[in-house]
Amino acid sequence: MLVLGVETSCDETAAAVVDGGRILSNVVSSQADIHEAYSGVVPELASRAHMERVAAVMERALRGAFGAGSGLADARRLDGVAFTQGPGLAGALLVGKVAAQTLAWAAGLPLVGVNHVEAHALSIGLAPNAASRRRLFPYLALIVSGGHTDLLRVDAPGRYRVIGRTRDDAAGEVFDKVAKLLGLPYPGGPAVERLSRAGDPDAVRFPRPYLRGTHDFSFSGLKTAVLYHVRGSGLRAPYPRRFAADVCASFQEAVVETLIEKTLSAARELALRRVVVAGGVAANSRLRARFFSRARGEGLSVLFPAMSLCTDNAAMVAYAGGLKLRRGLRLRAGRFAADPALPITSWGNKSITAA
Ligand code: KG4
Ligand code: ZN
Repeated sequence: MLVLGVETSCDETAAAVVDGGRILSNVVSSQADIHEAYSGVVPELASRAHMERVAAVMERALRGAFGAGSGLADARRLDGVAFTQGPGLAGALLVGKVAAQTLAWAAGLPLVGVNHVEAHALSIGLAPNAASRRRLFPYLALIVSGGHTDLLRVDAPGRYRVIGRTRDDAAGEVFDKVAKLLGLPYPGGPAVERLSRAGDPDAVRFPRPYLRGTHDFSFSGLKTAVLYHVRGSGLRAPYPRRFAADVCASFQEAVVETLIEKTLSAARELALRRVVVAGGVAANSRLRARFFSRARGEGLSVLFPAMSLCTDNAAMVAYAGGLKLRRGLRLRAGRFAADPALPITSWGNKSITAA
């Protein structure tokens, strides 16, 4: 099942060709340079940049899969086209939708819409060891990115149950806001991680928002605690490196511990032995290291997709789209809507796709 995926839900214009669980090409054009000056994604600028780039990115993905000299005309060799239908920025989603729809129409291919969070949750299936793919299920997926902090029970492709989610800020969003507060570059997550290496994670005891009795998350209180600490220090920007490093390391530790604690407690309660962590924040090496050691202590296995598959990409969209197409799920004319607030639903529910 040879599928071209298109991803434009936020600030990465991406296209990829995937054959089952094998990635033939994976092209990502980041807009970080455009949004950096604003310390966050500007929706209108994101849509425009997607418009300028999407055709070239799709062409590069096809060339990567079919070899030099190939191009959009080779789309006929595909079995289908998949795109991120939501959630995400409305204008940005529309660009990917129209691009994917146009290609599918011109090449006479079936078209399928994919939920972005679902694509992150299934992306572990692109791990090189394909033989073990079937044995992955069921697992608990923690999706942590700039827009999401979701805990999902994944029983099989297309069978999900939402276990918990953030009630306010997403984990990556808080990384971005703390970075902005300290005057660090955008995107904030990698910048906070880098500076944390020079800091002491025990320097400041920031709150761990565990919210007992629910699997939901809340990070806005932690964000405010960091703000008060920085304001209350009497220091002014640019902050001394040592001070900023200690704030970063202590903040990162609070997020990491909260994510791990809540995820492992949900896994225990649901009697799930495997945990998959995906989304941009899953690229954080402190989160990876602490997750591995804590899970080992509890006899659980924790899996992370490759770094390049944690942040936004179209390989995960093509892969999830391929699984849907194999089940005969595809979009019918009139059902092509991009949905900024698309809920994650099991495939039996016809609200996403018509068979
Ligand atoms: O999945 P993603 O690429 O896009 C969304 O769907 O949001 O995630 C981007 C988010 C940003 O908030 C970014 O700061 C965060 O992931 N991120 C990180 C790291 N790399 C990216 N957060 C913490 N540590 C990192 N190394
Ligand atoms: Zn994402």
